[in-house]
Amino acid sequence: MKHRTMNNYGGIIHGGDYNPDQWLDRPEILEEDLLLMKKAKVNCVSLGIFAWGHLEPEEGKYDFGWLEKIIQRLYENDIYTILATPTGAMPQWLTSKYEEVLQVNEYGVRNYPGKRHNYCPSSPVMREKTRQLDTCLAEKFGAHPGVIGWHISNEIGGNGGDSSCHCAYCQDAFRTWLKDRYGSLDQLNATWWTSFWSHTYTDWDQIKSPSPRGEDLVHGQNLDWKRFVDSQLLDFCKEEIKAVRRHSSLPVTTNMMEFFKSLNYFKWAKELDIVSWDSYPDWHSGADELQTAAQAAAAHSLMRSLKKSSFLLMESTPSVVNWRQVNRLKRPGMHELSSLQAVACGSDSVQYFQWRKGRGSSEKYHGAVVDHRNGDDTRVFREVTKLGERLEKIASKVIGTCNRPRIAMVFDWENWWAMEDAKAVDNNLNYQTVFLDFFRPLWELGVDVDMVDMEGELELYSVVVAPLNYMYKKGYVEKVRAFVKQGGCYITTCWSGEVDDSDLTYTGAHPLEDVLGIRTEEIDVPDGYCENSVRYQGADYRITGLCGLVHAKGAEVLAEYQQDFYRGYPALTRNTYGSGEAYYIASLNEQSFLKDFYSEILNGKGLGCGLQVRLTQGVTVNERSKPVGENGETEKVWFLQNFNREAEVVELLERYENVETGETLSGKIELQSFECVVLTGNKREDYFEK
Ligand code: GAL
Repeated sequence: MKHRTMNNYGGIIHGGDYNPDQWLDRPEILEEDLLLMKKAKVNCVSLGIFAWGHLEPEEGKYDFGWLEKIIQRLYENDIYTILATPTGAMPQWLTSKYEEVLQVNEYGVRNYPGKRHNYCPSSPVMREKTRQLDTCLAEKFGAHPGVIGWHISNEIGGNGGDSSCHCAYCQDAFRTWLKDRYGSLDQLNATWWTSFWSHTYTDWDQIKSPSPRGEDLVHGQNLDWKRFVDSQLLDFCKEEIKAVRRHSSLPVTTNMMEFFKSLNYFKWAKELDIVSWDSYPDWHSGADELQTAAQAAAAHSLMRSLKKSSFLLMESTPSVVNWRQVNRLKRPGMHELSSLQAVACGSDSVQYFQWRKGRGSSEKYHGAVVDHRNGDDTRVFREVTKLGERLEKIASKVIGTCNRPRIAMVFDWENWWAMEDAKAVDNNLNYQTVFLDFFRPLWELGVDVDMVDMEGELELYSVVVAPLNYMYKKGYVEKVRAFVKQGGCYITTCWSGEVDDSDLTYTGAHPLEDVLGIRTEEIDVPDGYCENSVRYQGADYRITGLCGLVHAKGAEVLAEYQQDFYRGYPALTRNTYGSGEAYYIASLNEQSFLKDFYSEILNGKGLGCGLQVRLTQGVTVNERSKPVGENGETEKVWFLQNFNREAEVVELLERYENVETGETLSGKIELQSFECVVLTGNKREDYFEK
């Protein structure tokens, strides 16, 4: 029998984090877990994530027996294991014997032992202990037929958002990294613009990590530190991957954290066999669910885009989290909808944190499939089971498919790091928020979107949207030029093309002046007494953020500012270049502007929602497909999702088949609140006539 793996599982993975190491003195609980897992249609668990203390109770003394028994019992019950390397949390013996494994913060203070996701990635001891344990785990379990992949560590770098360690090892490693990058101090000084405030470095040893106690205003230095912190953690992760690969050919992943600022996941994805991530949307928190839903869709789309492939939803809560100030239960239906939303956006799994609630410590009230009481007789257990049944029903249509958007948005971590450090006209500017503002109207229109960074391949798409593309990395300008010349549609905004990848501003013309057909000048934030608006196709739209003052230099003006001294200046321009076109949106405007603007562009290019449907607000669609036959035909599956708190009627303009019931649907159909219907359709005209 072929060994299943987590990226070739043959069905939709359903399960989650399982921590039997908290229950080793209760064998009856572990037996009950097996029965309940079968009942809930769980087919896979993630094991050993925080089990270092049980796997190596004393330095160098491994105890894998308990884990072996559990993996085996699960396997006998057709439940597979994604096995973790346990570096997410360190055992007491390690942190008390070797202080160097503990991080030092930006004030130079070393942490006490405890908590998690907080090892120093440069510590030789940490690296060695990890290498030894990972190698032994892989040797022991790498060929077990029940193990289908490696879960490297846990939410790497996720120590309250600050992933950096400022110890002496890290400072040394930073200087070595800088020497590699710049070759000479002269080059470093020039790039960091250190003659500002007379801070020219004359010796490598003078360079330290940015700190509020010292230097944290040199933009080039801050940016390089962020690059270094990212690359040092990735280097540690690569060491872990190397260790497990010595004895195991199973695929590796690490669970990511959506738009997590400290780690450039485009780089990380290159080292992984499959991307996975942990999704905890804040459902039921606003006036409606739409912003949360759009945000979750953006995060899923980012994860899919990292490898342009389906991914795993490694964690989600089946009911409630416990780490927000106020934690609301997922309302009936939302668990199904939010899980199917992940699948709709490209996930081949629905996994939870956590299988069973522990009795003590800080996550004892975090949601789980199995509660402290009542076994399978709970609302949550029933909802999980129902979802498990639905996943089994749709699996054969879904596995092997992926979303294949024609539209991409440029999202780039280095751009993020540099832009939010810019100290410019709007220091509250939040890249992620603005990016989501540009994503949400596309999501509402039922159009899938990929994300690319500046190193990505633009030519795979018809339309590329690049909001707040502040930094242009080496080669990017030429890439955009070629993309537009060959017929692409490029849409960008103000606060683009400001700095190069050293965070030094461009002088002279905007680097894409020829493509955009405009000359950029000042930038404003029309707020308070100087409010402003934009008139586009006869309608006025409020400006909500930055506002660029530009002059047309060949471009056609499609919208103009309505007030203030720049009344009549271009607010939206279009320029043809080669066989393509480039749009410049000069200001950040209210949402309806983008929806109207995108609709115009997409309709013109026939790039709207693939499902023939009249959508209403809050109902959206994602499309997954796979090629069949030789004529470029594809088989498609659509997820029609209602995020409204009420039922909604939408109109299907063609006939489709409900994948789960086999029923044919067309015309007006009612979707219940939080309902998701999975549809397949007519490859050929006569598909339903037979
Ligand atoms: C994740 C983490 C899990 C668990 C969960 C709770 O960030 O990986 O171990 O803590 O949050 O929501």
